[in-house]
Amino acid sequence: MVKFYAVFLLLFFLCFTSSSPPAEAFPPPANAFVAAIYRDPATSLYTIPAAAGNRSLVLDLAGPLLWSPCPGRHPTIPCNSSTCAEARAFPPRHCYNRPSPRPPCACTATVGNPVTGACAAGELTLTDVILSTTDGHHPTAVFDVNGIISSCAPTSLLSGLPAGAAGVAGLARSSVSLHSQLAGKFYFKSKQFALCLPSGNSRDPGVAFFGDGPFYLLPPPGIDVTALLTYTPLLKDPKSSAYYIHVNGFAVNQKAVQIPPGKLADGVKFSTTVAYTTLRSDVFKPLLDAFDGATSGIPRMPDAAPFELCLNSSALGSTRVGYGVAPIDVMVGGGKNWTIFGANSLVDVDGSRACFAFVNGGAKAEPAVVIGSFQMENNLMLFDAGRSRLGFTSTLFGIMTTCSNFNFTMGIM
Ligand SMILES: *[C@@H]1O[C@H](CO)[C@@H](O)[C@H](O)[C@H]1NC(C)=O
Ligand SMILES: *[C@@H]1O[C@H](CO)[C@@H](O)[C@H](O)[C@H]1NC(C)=O
Ligand SMILES: *[C@@H]1O[C@H](CO)[C@@H](O)[C@H](O)[C@H]1NC(C)=O
Ligand SMILES: *[C@@H]1O[C@H](CO)[C@@H](O)[C@H](O)[C@H]1NC(C)=O
Ligand SMILES: *[C@@H]1O[C@H](CO)[C@@H](O)[C@H](O)[C@H]1NC(C)=O
Repeated sequence: MVKFYAVFLLLFFLCFTSSSPPAEAFPPPANAFVAAIYRDPATSLYTIPAAAGNRSLVLDLAGPLLWSPCPGRHPTIPCNSSTCAEARAFPPRHCYNRPSPRPPCACTATVGNPVTGACAAGELTLTDVILSTTDGHHPTAVFDVNGIISSCAPTSLLSGLPAGAAGVAGLARSSVSLHSQLAGKFYFKSKQFALCLPSGNSRDPGVAFFGDGPFYLLPPPGIDVTALLTYTPLLKDPKSSAYYIHVNGFAVNQKAVQIPPGKLADGVKFSTTVAYTTLRSDVFKPLLDAFDGATSGIPRMPDAAPFELCLNSSALGSTRVGYGVAPIDVMVGGGKNWTIFGANSLVDVDGSRACFAFVNGGAKAEPAVVIGSFQMENNLMLFDAGRSRLGFTSTLFGIMTTCSNFNFTMGIM
């Protein structure tokens, strides 16, 4: 009898105290989710079609939270919960959270529009996000993920976002960003996501992966692009939930750019809402001068704002990795280089001018360098908050593929 009770107690203990997944997330449908990434030409923002009603969410690498206008009746979350504290931990720049009233109350969080900088407070709620599961080669099934924590926002906060956008998917290093919630709900091994942004002139979308690799791009039988990644540590910056890395300096044509010491000490930030890498003047000028010197044999053309150096594109050779110009090495923490070739250093503005695709952010820009989306196009970028590292490739053109080469035909390998 004693034995029987012991077994019973043990079973009881196992059933109620083990961290077995909640019914909704069990069994995990896959090791990863996949979504197509579209570039909106009017705003240079990137969206994934993950909102209900065939609507999209704008990707925001620096956003700590999801937000979207809510129906009048929606679930709320207690203001004294840890989820509420997490959602309020990183209000957007120049925005703040009003103190919560005394419990019981519904949690509110302030969210921001990454384009206009407008802020608004809304109730925290639970919403659905629609993604496809993937085996890394194909989408395998469309999956409606319930219970994703999101903030409500007034419809006016959508102004400036692409037509058809239902809201913003924050992908920053917070526990309430989209990839963190997916990793937590589905027990992914890695709290990571990969972005492969399509180029502006591609008809086909790029691809975002949430969860564990490998991830394959065509040609058949597929190249596991995660095998090509080089890693650098992410900086820990308690002021912000954005992704920062350490950069030791730049080189153009393998010649170091003379940047006074300490200018890059605060780290370099990544953004999907800044179209072109933007540098503070004291960093921009030496980089521009170095590129100017390294391309001095190529005829100049009149500038096209916001760019400060344009070349005659018909005088430029074309290579597998874009325009044939001096490569730029971004020398990152850990002694590795992220090499930017012509495809990501020069932008074709009107068919005749190829302009240096970096922008002078002025004397007060902060941080000193923000890596913009044009420099990430057709590179695979893996944001791995779990292991606190950033994985990057150079342009995938170098291995004869592009970010628009995921096979979106539903299937299994
Ligand atoms: C979703 O929207 C896209 C573009 O807005 C359209 O091409 C597609 O047919 C729509 N799909 C459905 C199922 O309505
Ligand atoms: C939150 O407040 C409610 C109502 O005052 C209380 O019952 C509950 O225990 C509180 N929860 C936490 C996690 O503090
Ligand atoms: C990184 O780039 C610099 C400048 O071009 C070069 O001197 C260095 O050897 C490169 N390092 C690696 C690991 O490739
Ligand atoms: C650009 O270069 C091409 C080929 O070298 C040349 O024919 C053309 O005149 C140049 N255009 C200008 C505006 O300099
Ligand atoms: C994409 O996947 C489908 C389904 O497996 C397959 O039939 C098709 O040939 C693939 N496309 C390419 C270009 O390989």
